[in-house]
Amino acid sequence: MRLNFGIACLLAAIAPSQVQAADTTVYRDSTTGFIFAQRLAAYKLGGTITFRIAVPSNASSGSSYDAVIQVVAPNEVGWAGLAWGGSMVNNPLTLSWQNGQNVVLSSRYTTSRSSPPTYTKATYTTLKAGTKVNSTHYQYTAKCTGCTYFTGASNAQKSLNPAGGNQLAFAFAFAKPSSPSSNTSAIPVHDVHSYWVHDFAQGANANFAELVTKNA
Ligand code: HEM
Repeated sequence: MRLNFGIACLLAAIAPSQVQAADTTVYRDSTTGFIFAQRLAAYKLGGTITFRIAVPSNASSGSSYDAVIQVVAPNEVGWAGLAWGGSMVNNPLTLSWQNGQNVVLSSRYTTSRSSPPTYTKATYTTLKAGTKVNSTHYQYTAKCTGCTYFTGASNAQKSLNPAGGNQLAFAFAFAKPSSPSSNTSAIPVHDVHSYWVHDFAQGANANFAELVTKNA
């Protein structure tokens, strides 16, 4: 009895912090100057792809605001994709892959669980200061216009909350796209996908526009 009571007390003491534990943490990027909300997404045992998002601190919910996405992926990753609405279908998909010393970004959107076609309503400006390839990883940093406000399921407008949590998803494949130099390439199906809640408030930047210009 006493042991059970002790365990109950211990659980009661630790439960609140577990419930509130965020899926993302704050990351300050000394190269670009942005503060990001960061998610380390496991794609295999002992391997993660990093997804970071920065938003303007004055962005308001219910309208389109630009966001900066930064992704760091091990060289063995064939392609990595972020789903801004937290599912494969009916939301902007930001895909990337390494092509030699370059990083290719590809904007996609699909209404079915099959290879997603390209999408023109989300556009990207690569920020050169935060985009590189080395012997272990590739990294890109890009401003997205159209990732935070989009047509979702049943033609409903969907808006991401700049000051709180949004469910996102990622997918990844070990296999590379068939024409890696082209951002319209066919891509192989993913090996892994998962979901999390990304706290955009952790990536709020008062000097967002200035940092975009500085890193362009
Ligand atoms: C050739 C390309 C692709 C094919 C053929 C494909 C196919 C599929 C299929 C059949 C499922 C259902 C599997 C299941 O429920 O276990 C699925 C789920 C999923 N896919 Fe893809 N996929 C492709 C690309 C992508 C891309 C680029 C993303 C971007 C992040 C993505 C994200 C997801 C997610 C998050 C799920 C979980 C179900 C959901 O939330 O909608 N997929 N995919």
